[in-house]
Amino acid sequence: MKKAKSFLEFYGEHNISPVRQDLSDYLKHRLRRECLYRHLGLLPSYFTGKKILEFGPGGGFNSLIIADFGPRQYTLVEGNPQGVREIKANFKKHPLLNFGRFKVVHSKVEDYSTKELFDIAICECMVPHSKNQAVILNKLDSLLLPKGVMIVTCEDEISSFYEFIKRYFAFQLVKDVVGFENKVSILVEAFERHKKTLLGSSRYTRDWVIDTFLNEAVFNPLFSIKDCLASLGKKYLVYHTSPMIFTDYRWYKSIPEDRKSFNNYVIEEFDTIRHNLFFTNKNFNKRTKIKNDKLSKLCWQARRLIYLNEMKGLDVKKSMLEVISGLISNLKDTDNDVLGSLRDIRELLKMKIQVKDISQKYPLFIKAFGKVSQYISLIKNHE
Ligand SMILES: C[S@@+](CC[C@H](N)C(=O)[O-])C[C@H]1O[C@@H](n2cnc3c(N)ncnc32)[C@H](O)[C@@H]1O
Repeated sequence: MKKAKSFLEFYGEHNISPVRQDLSDYLKHRLRRECLYRHLGLLPSYFTGKKILEFGPGGGFNSLIIADFGPRQYTLVEGNPQGVREIKANFKKHPLLNFGRFKVVHSKVEDYSTKELFDIAICECMVPHSKNQAVILNKLDSLLLPKGVMIVTCEDEISSFYEFIKRYFAFQLVKDVVGFENKVSILVEAFERHKKTLLGSSRYTRDWVIDTFLNEAVFNPLFSIKDCLASLGKKYLVYHTSPMIFTDYRWYKSIPEDRKSFNNYVIEEFDTIRHNLFFTNKNFNKRTKIKNDKLSKLCWQARRLIYLNEMKGLDVKKSMLEVISGLISNLKDTDNDVLGSLRDIRELLKMKIQVKDISQKYPLFIKAFGKVSQYISLIKNHE
């Protein structure tokens, strides 16, 4: 059976680092990043004077902002040579360089070692789809000081459903096309309007289609908020998330008295709200864990079918139509944007699709995205 490549294999094969962002309005970029850190409970001043470690920064587009916050030291570990070249180009004139407090290490995270310990450890959009999740998390943990803050990104089968089903259609459009660049231009034409519906999206469309629709690493394991707490929950306390999906109405004085640990509180809440990861900018009432477990199962089935279609060449249309009907029934307590987009998908599944079917004809499908990535900040050794 064909095995999915890793990030580094795929990027290396094409000499790319497809995570570049449009920094023409740098102030806007900074404001976007500050919003993320604020969601995570971290004001810019929190980074000032700290020792910071980042794994998998790509071309360092986001790292520039952290560098602007004035850390005492900032170490970036990136395994893709093209990513390292872009970091160096992006940081060429950054003042942090002048003080020797900035280090770029070209290494696989798995091979990286240092005697230093850090106050903040960041790993953005890298654990989901990595083959060595446990190794990466252990390494990140081993280099973080007690009371330090870890930032990681989670992604699960519910949050990534729409990107994945879009991938199914992307594959139908390019499976017989020869040449990487030819595939990319077809996909840009087909999906540019989709991406434009995402307010604030700053990644280049070309990079987004490559990473979302052509990068095989997406078939490697996901990493949900629950997976994150299963791996780190014994040592770490959940601090905040972005989007800010958790609420805690308890009186603060009662929390130390509560026998339920804080992380368990979060996990129970997650089970009742995770359907809200299905669709961006939409939030619906809490519902039962049973319903959400069923939703998760259907999204896993869709994922599996897309894998079988792309990696094993199986025709999965009939089974996929059943999954979509199951989703329509499971999500009938949502709204017409969600249900209409699923009906669009059902129509598309019955057709022999062309680019214009994807790029123009189905407005609800075009604007259908999940809350794909959830960021989580965690505090080490909280007890
Ligand atoms: C999806 S990109 C995310 C880039 C950046 N953090 C962002 O959010 O825009 C994942 C990054 O992790 C790097 N990476 C993946 N596996 C790695 C590994 N085992 N060791 C070092 N870097 C790795 C990739 O080269 C890539 O730059």
